[in-house]
Amino acid sequence: MSKYVLVTGGAGYIGSHTVVSLSENGYIPLILDNFENANRSVLNGLHKILGFEPILLEGDVCDNDFLKSIFLSYEIHGVIHFAAYKAVGESVKEPLKYYKNNLLGLINILNNMIEFRIKNLVFSSSCTVYGEPKGIKEMIEETPKNSPNSPYGWTKWMSEQIIEDVIKANPSLNIAVLRYFNPVGAHKSVFIGEFPIGKPNNLMPYITQTAIGKQEKLIVFGNDYPTIDGTCVRDYIHVIDLAEAHVKAISFLESKSGVLEAINIGTGKGLSVLEIINAFTIETGVQINWEFGPKRKGDVTEIFANANKAKTILGWEAKLSINDAINDAWNWEKKLAATK
Ligand code: WQD
Repeated sequence: MSKYVLVTGGAGYIGSHTVVSLSENGYIPLILDNFENANRSVLNGLHKILGFEPILLEGDVCDNDFLKSIFLSYEIHGVIHFAAYKAVGESVKEPLKYYKNNLLGLINILNNMIEFRIKNLVFSSSCTVYGEPKGIKEMIEETPKNSPNSPYGWTKWMSEQIIEDVIKANPSLNIAVLRYFNPVGAHKSVFIGEFPIGKPNNLMPYITQTAIGKQEKLIVFGNDYPTIDGTCVRDYIHVIDLAEAHVKAISFLESKSGVLEAINIGTGKGLSVLEIINAFTIETGVQINWEFGPKRKGDVTEIFANANKAKTILGWEAKLSINDAINDAWNWEKKLAATK
């Protein structure tokens, strides 16, 4: 059996950590990336962790001729499709950029998998497909998908629909749709981590950049939500655990035929913004300069995963804690500052 796994967006934050997990589990990752949303230094970091430089196929998943050339050149065992734009705010300003890139990329992947009879696909989806859950906080996979709050969320919602329709017409496909909650942290080696482009959108990188002095102050978006302390609650999952879930999903698919499974990948526990800020200070000893600001449009009040299905069918559960993620994210931020 070929051990080649095509990892689109493999130089990205979650992609690069998944490349490490794949290698550690005997697979041969093929990194497909156009570096539009990834930093080339990731390749050096991966070399240091793995002891070799993984195979890089530089190009765009929306370029079907390029993609086809990969399927012609390698006997691919499975595909993990990360490559997509993911900035919620940007997607509101530039919806067509998101619909074109995120949907065309998936369509190209599916067409080539069908043409070359590649069965196994792990698709990077998001809890954003649940939209604003009507009063429900703990998401199970059967929770009806509501209207996402952004064009980015709609691209994930539509991608899942495309996958559902395509597998009905092509039952030889095997697809796992992983719905991530909030990825945080970095590799323990601090050779790879998150490279937010410009001012971070997400909470954890904003906290670490404020702590290191790159950002002057963290604004906490809203303080009167109906939650434990008035701030939004999320399910923060260590990126290493998230990467491991992809490897478990690939091996799950190997033993199946014609399956389509949507699976939540989260810790099963929700934490508020203030709980994260306080945990950061307790864990690192560093105070964060923050203040309350207005609510951010589109924010969901409280959402966290019911992670039972991942445990049952993948044999996967989150092992690392929020404190592990805080430490790894902070060590990564300090490493970035030291190498500036
Ligand atoms: C978390 C909480 C903010 C920044 C998004 C996408 C999701 C996934 C993860 C791609 C919220 C609060 C944040 C800040 C704040 N992305 N916050 N001040 O919005 O839950 O999820 O990123 O896969 O699909 O929707 O993550 O980190 O932006 O926000 O108060 O400066 O932190 O209001 O409550 P989010 P986030």
